[in-house]
Amino acid sequence: MARNHSNSEWLRLPRRPRRLRQGSAIRALVAETEVAPRGLIAPLFVRESATQEAEIASLPGVRRFLISELLQEAAELHGLGIGAVALFPALRSVRKDLRGSAALDPKGLVPRAVRALKKEIPSLAVMTDVALDPYTPHGHDGIWNAKLNDVDNDATVAVLRKMAVLYAEAGVDFVAPSDMMDGRIGAIREALDAGGHVRTGIIAYAAKFASAYYGPFREAVGSKTAQGYLDKRTYQLDPGNRREAVLEALLDEEEGADMVMVKPAGPYLDIIREVRESVRVPVAAYQVSGEYAQIHAAARAGWLDLERTRDESLIGIRRAGADVILTYFARAAAEAWRRRQS
Ligand code: PBG
Repeated sequence: MARNHSNSEWLRLPRRPRRLRQGSAIRALVAETEVAPRGLIAPLFVRESATQEAEIASLPGVRRFLISELLQEAAELHGLGIGAVALFPALRSVRKDLRGSAALDPKGLVPRAVRALKKEIPSLAVMTDVALDPYTPHGHDGIWNAKLNDVDNDATVAVLRKMAVLYAEAGVDFVAPSDMMDGRIGAIREALDAGGHVRTGIIAYAAKFASAYYGPFREAVGSKTAQGYLDKRTYQLDPGNRREAVLEALLDEEEGADMVMVKPAGPYLDIIREVRESVRVPVAAYQVSGEYAQIHAAARAGWLDLERTRDESLIGIRRAGADVILTYFARAAAEAWRRRQS
C-alpha cells in the first residue's frame, strides 16, 4: 500500500475530511454551492434627464442610467448571462405628488424604459417594482392618509393594480410589488388577468423588513422618508419577526405570487432558509443597497478584500436557500464567473 504520509508516525483515522480539500480539482468536484449568472438579477436605476446626477455616492460603481445608457448596460449584462434586470426610476422632484400620479403615466420613465429594453433585447427578462415611493414627495410606498397618520392600505392597492397593468402593457415579464400592503398580490393577479395579462408574473416582496440597509437606495431614487412622516414600520416587518415573515410568504404564495422574496438578504439568512422550506415557488433574496455599500466601504478602507467578500456574501445567500439573488454585484460577479470558466 502506498504510504504518502510525510513522517512515519500517523494517526489511524478512519475519517479524514481533508482528503476532499487537497487540491483545486477535488475541491471543485465536491463544491456544494455556486452562484451562476443565470440566477442573478441586476437592479438598475434609470433617470429621466441628463441634468440629474448619474453617480450615487453611497453606491460606488452603481449609476443612474439614461434610457440610451440603460440599453447598453442591459445588453452587456445579457451577454454575461445575467438572468434578468430590475428597473428603479429616479424621478425629478417636480414629478412627485401625494397621489403618485407619475406612476400611472403610460409615457412615464419606467414604461418607456421597459418598451425600449423589450424592443432591443427581447430575450432579457425585465421586472419592475410596483410601489409608490419613487413617485411621492414623502417617500412612502403608498397613499398617505393624514387622518389615519398612516399609509392607506386599500387606497394604495387600488393604485398598485393599475400600475401593474400599465407595466404589463409595456411588456415586463414580472411585476414586483415591494409595498407590503395586505392583499395586494391577489388584487394585482386579478387585475392582470382581467386585462388579459395572464403571462405576466408576480415576484412578491413577501418578507420585506423595515431595514436600515435601504439607506443608499433611498439616496439613489430620492425617496428618503420626509420630515413629519412616520417611518415604514406600519407595513414593513419588524427585523426580529421570523414567524410573521413566513406567514407573509405563505399568504403571497396563496394569493398567486410566482416567486416570493426575502429582503434584505445577508442579515436574514435564517428567514431565507425557512421560507425556502415553507413555500413551493422559487425564492428570491435581495442583497440590498446597504449590504453592497458596507462591503465597498470596508474594502475602500483596506479592511476587507472586495472580490472575496462579494463572492462569500453571495454564496451565503445562495446556500441559505435563495434560488434567485438580486444584487448590485450582479455584473462584477458574472464577470468573475466568466473569468473562472475560461
Ligand atoms: C421600495 C423599495 C425599496 C427597495 C427596493 N424597493 C426601499 C424601501 O422600501 O424604502 C430597497 C432596495 C435596496 O436598498 O437596495 N419599495
